[in-house]
Amino acid sequence: MSAPSATTLTGPALEAAADRFGTPLYAYDLDGVARRHRELVAALPDRVDVHYALKANGSLAIAARLADVGCGVDVCSRGELAVAAAAGFPGVRTLFTGPGKSDHDLHEAVARGLRWVVVESVGEARRLAAVATAAGRRQPVLVRIAPRTLPSGDGLVVAVPGGKFGVDEEEAAEALATVAALPGLRLEGIHVYAESCVLDAGHMLAINTRTIALARDLAAHDLPITVVDLGGGLGVPYGPDEPAFDLARWSDGLRSRCRDLPADWRLVVEPGRFLVAEHGTYVVTVLDVKTVAGRRHVIVDGGINQLYRPNMARANRQVEVLGASGQDGPTEVVAIAGPLLSGEDVLATDVELPRIDPGRRLAFRSCGAYGYGHGISGFSAHPTPAEVAIEPDGSAWEMRRRGRPSAALRDQSATPSATPERTPAMDRTTSHAP
Ligand SMILES: Cc1ncc(COP(=O)(O)O)c(C=O)c1O
Repeated sequence: MSAPSATTLTGPALEAAADRFGTPLYAYDLDGVARRHRELVAALPDRVDVHYALKANGSLAIAARLADVGCGVDVCSRGELAVAAAAGFPGVRTLFTGPGKSDHDLHEAVARGLRWVVVESVGEARRLAAVATAAGRRQPVLVRIAPRTLPSGDGLVVAVPGGKFGVDEEEAAEALATVAALPGLRLEGIHVYAESCVLDAGHMLAINTRTIALARDLAAHDLPITVVDLGGGLGVPYGPDEPAFDLARWSDGLRSRCRDLPADWRLVVEPGRFLVAEHGTYVVTVLDVKTVAGRRHVIVDGGINQLYRPNMARANRQVEVLGASGQDGPTEVVAIAGPLLSGEDVLATDVELPRIDPGRRLAFRSCGAYGYGHGISGFSAHPTPAEVAIEPDGSAWEMRRRGRPSAALRDQSATPSATPERTPAMDRTTSHAP
């Protein structure tokens, strides 16, 4: 797969960035991210609000670019909340999702005046109500619902029946009535995030239609629902055989669903991958090339510790040799593996590459989502990659500097007398407020 035509992530720019900042490296086209957001907003009906799912890529510079262009944000931890705030997202453009929110999380959400907290259970709603009441606030909430059935399609199902997310659909009316009556909260709607990596716009629309119908059924129980959060899930193609998501078809469908809704209802979408995936590239350097029992292996300096997704379904395993001139000579079929002492540390198998020597750079395109933040970077204490933005004039700057080997020692002590410094309350990992 080659880079989108207007991208700043050209082969020469990536090689120059790798020379200057070292590898493994993530390089981004921030204008590309902003452009994708603009296309999405232009396509959607006016009453649909976009909140970027920061978990897809929580780098400050990416968040700041999206905050700048007026996007909302969806966070799922205090760390993400801190990044969102530093990036310039005001509380009124921030929503907080995710199961297992600690009391610290809830305090922070209320203190920052978030647009919505998406509660995952009545128990969580009660804890939030106590926090909001103590703070003298009334916190707007949505309740995440676990639908019993959903249309089946081409994506990776998140809302698996009996899974950990949300309130059982069959108990939703009763749960929402309880939440609506809690002091300190204002129930405003529901949330359903069903499936990720959906490439078929018709299928996404079928899921959304089911969610909107669910919201209308619940509203008919005299519940104060005016907001339907449709979650994330829009996919991007990860290979030449995969189609691009048909944005026009999806948004036309949403527009027609909106026509039937009461005038004061709003829809929310929380795309992550769709906004950032295609505007990030992972660059590694070849350290070794060898044959083992007839199989060719290319060993590179960053594996699944820095890019975990190739180990999962629906991920980009396609690779490009940087600096390839077309005169690289014969090709060979290889496996590309990282430096970890784990047989799972394989970025791609059975790929055809020109015969290359150590020192060459390889680029994995479409790695802007669930790349840097989704690795297992604690494995073997390799330094974390740098993240670099490449501007339209080809210049590059470091969004996040490369980790240091000494970071492996951070916050550790070998003896009781050398206890690490006490951390501020917000940074403690306890799940309950002191
Ligand atoms: C609640 C929620 N919203 C949005 C997203 C973003 O999903 P995607 O990147 O598939 O758009 C996720 C991903 O895990 C999520 O958990």
